[in-house]
Amino acid sequence: MHREEKIWLILSSAMIIGFFLFAGYQAFALGMGPPSHTETIDPQKVDETAPFDNPGVFQTGDNEYEVVMTLQIFSFTPNDIEIPAGSEVTFTMTSKDVTHGFQIAGTNVNAMVMPGYVQKITQTFNEPGEYLVICNEYCGAGHQVMSTTITVK
Ligand code: CUA
Repeated sequence: MHREEKIWLILSSAMIIGFFLFAGYQAFALGMGPPSHTETIDPQKVDETAPFDNPGVFQTGDNEYEVVMTLQIFSFTPNDIEIPAGSEVTFTMTSKDVTHGFQIAGTNVNAMVMPGYVQKITQTFNEPGEYLVICNEYCGAGHQVMSTTITVK
């Protein structure tokens, strides 16, 4: 084998091993793995299943809130959420019909919300302002109008 082939073979093998080690370190040591303990829900009965029978914003601690949210074509319930600055907010979400997206512009929040599953994601809002929330999964004819805002005061 050509000497340079050997060098590239070793380099590329080292890179693959390096990526595996890095991904493993992130997943297990830093807890950045994909969500586990997935909760399921009957998508036909979202309106009757707690907590989604009562969507809204709930205070759960000093600076902690939970937003129980349903996504459906082509809206988010509740709409126009208001929370105080510095709050840690956990969004508990499910879809009543098709797969939707939940992306908060200007943050790292970007989740897929699928019918039949409960999606949870937590974000701390330190900066006051209006945060745009958009659906980033194509969900039908009104996909482009599916948005809401989170107001941080
Ligand atoms: Cu909901 Cu796109």
